[in-house]
This record gives sequence, structure tokens and C-alpha cells, in this order.
Amino acid sequence: MSAQRKDDHVRLAIEQHQAHSGRNQFDDVSFVHHALAGIDRPDVSLGTDFAGLSWQVPIYINAMTGGSAKTGAINRDLATAARETGVPIASGSMNAYLKDPSCAGTFRVLREENPDGFVMANINATTSVDNARRAIDLLEADALQIHINTAQETPMPEGDRSFSSWGPQIEKIAAAAGVPVIVKEVGNGLSRQTVLTLRELGVRAADVSGRGGTDFARIENGRRELADYAFLHGWGQSTPACLLDAQDAGLPVLASGGVRHPLDVARALALGARAVGASAGFLRTLLDGGVPALVAQIITWLDQLAALQTMLGARTPADLTRCDLLVHGELRSFCADRGIDTRRLAQRSGSAAVLHEMTGSTR
Ligand code: FNR
Repeated sequence: MSAQRKDDHVRLAIEQHQAHSGRNQFDDVSFVHHALAGIDRPDVSLGTDFAGLSWQVPIYINAMTGGSAKTGAINRDLATAARETGVPIASGSMNAYLKDPSCAGTFRVLREENPDGFVMANINATTSVDNARRAIDLLEADALQIHINTAQETPMPEGDRSFSSWGPQIEKIAAAAGVPVIVKEVGNGLSRQTVLTLRELGVRAADVSGRGGTDFARIENGRRELADYAFLHGWGQSTPACLLDAQDAGLPVLASGGVRHPLDVARALALGARAVGASAGFLRTLLDGGVPALVAQIITWLDQLAALQTMLGARTPADLTRCDLLVHGELRSFCADRGIDTRRLAQRSGSAAVLHEMTGSTR
């Protein structure tokens, strides 16, 4: 059952990516172009720091799979691509392994293929502390992701219907894990209130994983005989909306959900994300063109992100948070209703900072 579900998720996520990967709310964010704000490419670094972690690049392969023979082979290829490019990588949910240790190899391959890489284990919010440790130990994980996914569980025929224990359990795991705990959504987004609560629970970072890419309400509805939860398709907040909502919430935020290309990465970093993850897009590249295609895509993304930073005068990903941003369309309405000041975003570089860039002085 569980192995079949994992294979279904891969197939349905790819079909969805083929059908629905067009416009999303990242298109409602644009940079104000300052034509003399450029710096030199050798000045640019892609390094990012958060939660006591230091990553050389701000792009990661986000949680996907494991638990069946097919998905074990996918994990092997994802891990190889992570090793070849140096990007951090997350496992898919390891609850399959916790229930049935015979599928350990389909997850463990993430570490075996990538012994020196940054690897994140992944569990759900009902996992016991002991099992959280087992998941971390299997991967010798550098961090632990806990996914929260009420809009996936609800239409899932065999899904969880009891959510009250999730917060207290996250708190227990965060206190005992021994590695930084990152709580993530799976494509429906984290609100400001949720991020503030996660901070109180002792979580070290939150991955907003918002609407705009993979839609698990749609995937689970597609697995229902009557597909009678179609009204949940597109539930939640977009990734840029979540980033705007969580500004200054006091917890480092990561971005995933509908990240399509390096400009989306730059937009997410400019909206405050410390790093940016992609899942279905990378998976599709892998399944279409194998490991060489995924390696080439990740190298291109890193190269083009550095090029964008150069053009935008951002020596580091964090410097992008000083670039002026314009917010349009539906995202602008979201900001108005949530009390988010878009004028401040559009003017935040300040004339002094831009003048410094123009005259070549360092920030
Ligand atoms: C996922 N995602 C996911 N997340 C998680 O925390 N545990 C999991 O087991 C899975 N499984 C999974 C399978 C597949 C096939 C996909 C495509 C995705 C969710 C993923 O990490 C991410 O949050 C969303 O997919 C949004 O990002 P994209 O796909 O829009 O880049």
C-alpha cells in the first residue's frame, strides 16, 4: 500500500507538472532595475547561513521519495546529482521505513551515494521521538525536516484526521533531535501565525512550501475513486505570499513550492528566504534526461543565480533582501489585506545604497 502510494505520488506529480507549470504568483514579483548597480562576478558568493548551518549554495533538492524499489532508484539518482553539484538534499517521508525497516535501503542510498553532502531526513508530525532519532540515524542526517500537510491528509482516503497532537509532538522532537529541525509544508504554504507558533515550539527554520507548484490536494484527490475533493485544488497561500507574510517573524525561512527557474530563486531570496528548494521540476528533469540532465540543470541554476546577483549588485544571497521589489496583481491584494507594506519593499535600497554601488564603494 505504502510503496504503491509512493509510486503514485511520483507519477501524479509529474503529470501535474506537465499540465500545470505555467504562470504562478512569482510572476507578481519584479525587481526594480537599477542600470548602474552592477558589481563584478568574482565578488559574488552563493553562500548562505541560517539556524547555525552554513550552506555553500542557496538551492536544495527538496523532499520527495523513497519506500519502494522504483523510488529507491530515484533517490540514488537524486543523491548522485546532489553530490556532483554540492546542493543539499532532503529525503522523502521516512515513515515508510519506520513502519517497515525492510525498505531502509531505498532511503539510506541518499547517504551512501553522497557521503559528504548535506542530507536532511524527513518525517511526519506524529512520529515518536525515538523514531525521529531512527530516521536521523539511518541517514546520518545533518538536519531533520518535519512535514505538516493537513490539506494533503484531508482528501487522502487513508489520511490522518486528527491534527491536535502535531504542535506538541513537533516541540518534543525539536527538543530531542540533536540536529536542527526544519518544519515544512508540502505545497499549501505556512502563514505568519504558523511560523510564529513554530518559533515558539523550538523549531530552527520553516520551509513555507507554498502554492504554485506541486498540489497535493489535487494529487490525493486524483487517488480518490470519486475525485470529490476537487474544490480543494489550489488551497493555501503562494510561496511569495508566505515569504511576505512571514517577514520579521523571527524564524529563518526557506522557500519552496512552484520555483521554476533562477529568477524565481532570486525573487524568493529577495523576499527573505535563506535558501530555495525545488522538487517536482528537478524530478521531471531527472526522469526525462537522467542524472546528467539534472546535474546540468542545477549547475545552470547556480551559474544564472550568480549572474543575476551580479546584475542586481548583490554580493551574497542575503544582499538580495536590499533590492527594491515591486509587487503586482493578486499578490498585491494579499499584501493589502494582510497589512504588508509594499511601498517599503519598493524603496528599501535607499538612494544612498544605490549611490554606493554606482561609485563602487563596498557595502
Ligand atoms: C513531495 N513532497 C514531499 N514533502 C515532504 O515533506 N515529504 C514527502 O514525502 C514528500 N513527497 C513528495 C513526493 C513528490 C513526488 C513530490 C513532487 C513532492 C513535497 C515537496 O517537498 C515540496 O514541498 C512540494 O513538492 C512543493 O515543491 P515543488 O514540487 O512545487 O517544487
